[in-house]
Amino acid sequence: MAKAKTVFSCSACGASFNKWSGRCDACGEWNTISEDTPLSTGPSAATLGNNKGKNINLTDLRTEEAPPPRTLSGLAELDRVLGGGLVPASAILVGGDPGIGKSTLLLQAAAQFARQGLKTIYVSGEEASAQVRMRAQRLALTDAPVQLAAETNLRDILTTLEQERPQLAIIDSIQTMWSDNVGSAPGSVSQVRAAAHELTSFAKRKGMSVIIVGHVTKDGQIAGPRVVEHMVDTVLYFEGERGHQFRVLRAVKNRFGAADEIGVFEMTGSGLTEVINPSALFLSERGTPAPGSVVFAGIEGTRPVLVELQALVAPSPHAQPRRAVVGWDSSRLAMILAVLEARCGIPFTGLDVYLNVAGGMKINEPAADLAVAAALLSAREDASIPADTVVFGEISLSGALRPVSQTENRLKEAQKLGFTSAIAPKGGKSPSVAGISQNQIADLTQFVGDIFGAG
Ligand code: TYD
Ligand code: MG
Repeated sequence: MAKAKTVFSCSACGASFNKWSGRCDACGEWNTISEDTPLSTGPSAATLGNNKGKNINLTDLRTEEAPPPRTLSGLAELDRVLGGGLVPASAILVGGDPGIGKSTLLLQAAAQFARQGLKTIYVSGEEASAQVRMRAQRLALTDAPVQLAAETNLRDILTTLEQERPQLAIIDSIQTMWSDNVGSAPGSVSQVRAAAHELTSFAKRKGMSVIIVGHVTKDGQIAGPRVVEHMVDTVLYFEGERGHQFRVLRAVKNRFGAADEIGVFEMTGSGLTEVINPSALFLSERGTPAPGSVVFAGIEGTRPVLVELQALVAPSPHAQPRRAVVGWDSSRLAMILAVLEARCGIPFTGLDVYLNVAGGMKINEPAADLAVAAALLSAREDASIPADTVVFGEISLSGALRPVSQTENRLKEAQKLGFTSAIAPKGGKSPSVAGISQNQIADLTQFVGDIFGAG
């Protein structure tokens, strides 16, 4: 038998190389390449063509089968993010920072699914069974018919699952699992990849759903295996700021529903509780309107969410002024600052700029551009935006405002929460909503003139 070849893999993107180097050529990360054992020693691609395989079945697109019956957990926030409940034989990855509440969420989910009649097994590779039971007690879940195991050996786990035939297995976490088919240590790229592959293919074969927990590195990638994302049907991220009690479960990929859908939870002493109206919660800590504070009417998935943006602009003692952002994209902030300077003649040179999304929420929508610009200008000019106003709109590099999707939903949500006016882009479909007066703006210069009386 040929000697097993040594390969090197990048723990950030999963790319493999023949030799070690300090920097990954594929993703550009430093110090992420380490020695690894190749996944299989089957025929190489070069010889594959000579080995005749068997014919595979081809079918057409018609189907007589009804769509699969989904199971609702009863946790409405989770069910929505899943696209309307759990699909049988689906594989789901739940990623998030250590300590953010993944195990708590999944233990609660396991209990709920088990109460709905799904045979559910929860396998913890991180905590002893006694620890999980104690947590279940704290969460008042001890009556739920969940079966529990503390195990990290994948072969034993799969044998047990084969025997028990559950409808749902929860694996917490993929980084602790090890497959004896692979030589390297648990948590390494090849282990994570092999374990995820074995689990997902087992699940598909046996018609079992599997939820896999994965820890995420600080730059937002699941440690090691971005490859796991491709193997599963659904990728959910559980995010939030440690100092805040809000947690957002976000679908970043979903073969069975809309991506970008979010579910909002609050971490309390007795576990995660659902937040039915996130806007009200995110705005609940809002005091009297101060300069720099603006309410953005956003959309997350299918749901409107209002959040407060806060900006602080102050003379900088540094040669290189600071730009600090929490909850938004820092390159997008740089773009807005550049557009304000180039198109409206409002420079931020020599000024430190801080931008914060209140409540620990993260926003990705370009529709927040105008709200960010409003917060920056309001902070810079020391002029408050009226407290009853919401702002949204995308800014292009020319300084023009672009209409955004779901304007009506944004306005309705604002109206529901007691707002009476909106600053929005001109053009596109501009529905009117009773109780909200709209100030429609064509470009950023007009915005600066209308709202701040400057330009
Ligand atoms: P955990 O679910 O263990 O996080 P993860 O699995 O993502 O690593 O959550 C741990 C944190 O949650 C811990 O800091 C304590 C907090 N917590 C509560 O505030 N209330 C609770 O009821 C529970 C179970 C945990
Ligand atoms: Mg955990």
